[in-house]
This record gives sequence, structure tokens and C-alpha cells, in this order.
Amino acid sequence: MASAAPPTAALVRVQVPAQINLALKVGAPRPDGYHPLATVYQALSLYDQVQAEWAEPDRFEVVVSGEGADQVPLDDSNLAVRAARLLAQRHGPHDSHGASLSITKSIPVAGGLAGGSANGAAALLACAALWDLDVGPEDLRGLAAELGSDVPFALIGGTAVGSGRGEDVAPALARGTYQWVLAFGYHGLSTAAVYRRFDDLSPDAAPPEVPAELMNALRSGDPRLLGAALSNDLQPAALDLQPRLRTVLETGLEYGALGALVSGSGPTCAFLVESESAAVDLSVSLSAEGLCRAVRRATAPVVGARIIN
Ligand code: C5P
Repeated sequence: MASAAPPTAALVRVQVPAQINLALKVGAPRPDGYHPLATVYQALSLYDQVQAEWAEPDRFEVVVSGEGADQVPLDDSNLAVRAARLLAQRHGPHDSHGASLSITKSIPVAGGLAGGSANGAAALLACAALWDLDVGPEDLRGLAAELGSDVPFALIGGTAVGSGRGEDVAPALARGTYQWVLAFGYHGLSTAAVYRRFDDLSPDAAPPEVPAELMNALRSGDPRLLGAALSNDLQPAALDLQPRLRTVLETGLEYGALGALVSGSGPTCAFLVESESAAVDLSVSLSAEGLCRAVRRATAPVVGARIIN
């Protein structure tokens, strides 16, 4: 077999953030089964790393370590592998590219923090650099949208409004840095299952709109206003599937969080707090309650996927 073109880089490492939805408004399913969304994403300082190295042409492999690694598929269904293959098909000359991927996870699997999407976005960026492809940000965003609804946002990061099925992203006018505390659930939730439960609970969902209150809060940079404006239409469905999450949310608010919500399709619960010291205090209190598997602190917004070597 012919060997691949001489590598311009032997190895590329990309860091990619987790994401939460500050607002997630969901409409009734479209004919293609997806739900129309009006959402506001924010990227958090909780990162996975994806490393790409040259492999023989048309050979794609992945290893995974870290948080929840044993739950991540290692076959062609892995979103990072799908991303690398898609990029090679569309932009690589005649099956001449392959990649050996290594994912180090801190973002919980099936946690509602778009960890899989983050890995797909990171693999796109890493392989584009590894193979020295002539692809621009718009090309990558188009491929990202094909891979999944949350993948384009993982490329841009920051704070952004998402529409369509979530894949159509535009940066939002937002001030300030926010302190978050994340409570990881004991068991994951399937995004598709949460959307199905949403359909059962909300058969007459209205066309979604981004709440003006949230956009005003982001423009003000005031965490108290933001805390009061957080909302997630998927939260009742996630609480229906995992009722104990209600106790987690209530406990965080009792300990002084400015706002609390289930992140995306859950089960991670996200708490907005006033300051870094409030984040430390809430982390200690939530950990002591034993209601969740682990507690992490994060600041937001942070930039999207970026090369770190
Ligand atoms: O787009 P992605 O593959 O990340 O979505 C995972 C699942 O979540 C989809 O298969 C679908 O069931 C559900 N989903 C949805 N509407 C959206 C986004 C996701 O129904 N806007």
C-alpha cells in the first residue's frame, strides 16, 4: 500500500470545551424528526483533549481514556472517528488519509454537556491541521453540522445563539465571566429518549424563541439577572426520567446558587453562582450531600476547539 503524503505535523492536539444551554426552547418535531430549537449556548472551562496522529491511508482508529472512557464506543460510530472520516472523504485526495485518534475525557459521557459533539469538533480541527488541508472555518462548520446539532458550537465556543436544530450558530452579545458548578449524575441520559419524553409531555409545543430576558441579562453581565433567566424546555422530561435530579437542583438553590438548571438533555445539573469562592463553597456542600457522582467548577464563556501544541 502506498504510504501517505509526508506529514506536515506528526501529531496535533486539540482542546475542546463542554457546553451548556443557558436557554433551550424546543418546538414540536419537524418532518425529519428533529426538533426546532431556539437556544443560547455557553462554552465551559471543562475540556476534553483529542490528539490526532498520522495513520496508514484509510485507516481510522481511536483510543479513549479519562472520565467515562469505558462508555465511549471505539468503532466507526465514535463521533471523532466519524468526523475524521467525513473530513477525509470530502477534502482528502482519494483515500490517502488516515488518523490515529486519542481522546482524553473530562466531560462526562451522556451527561448533557455535549461531550461527544465536542470530540467530533476537535477531531475535525485536529485532522484538518494534521493533514494540512485547505479548509476554512465555514467548511469545518458545514461538516460539523452534518455530524450533529451541537457540533458547530463546539468549534466556535463563547456564547452563541443556536437555531434550526441547534446547528445554525451566531455569536451572542454577552458581557462578563460566569462561575458555574456542575453536578454529574450517577447514570447518563440518552438525548433521543429525553426528546421522546418531551414529545409525550408537550404535544402542543409552540415554535421556539430565544427569551429576551436572557439576552438582556447577558448584555448586562449581571450573574443575578442571568441566574433568574435560565430555562430549559427539556428539564421536565429529564426530571421525569430521573426524578432525583429535582432534589439536586433544589439543594443547590438552598445552598445559595443564583440559578440552576438541567444541562441540555441532562443529567448534569448546572448551578450559576456569584463568585469563585461561592463556587468552592457550593462544590463542597453538594459533594457532602452525596446526591451526585462528582462535582466540578467551571468558568464561562471560553473559546471553542483550539490547537494546543
Ligand atoms: O444532532 P444529534 O445527533 O446530536 O442529536 C442526537 C439526538 O437528539 C437525535 O437523534 C434526536 O433524537 C435528538 N435531537 C432532536 N432535535 C434536535 C437535536 C437533537 O430531536 N434539535
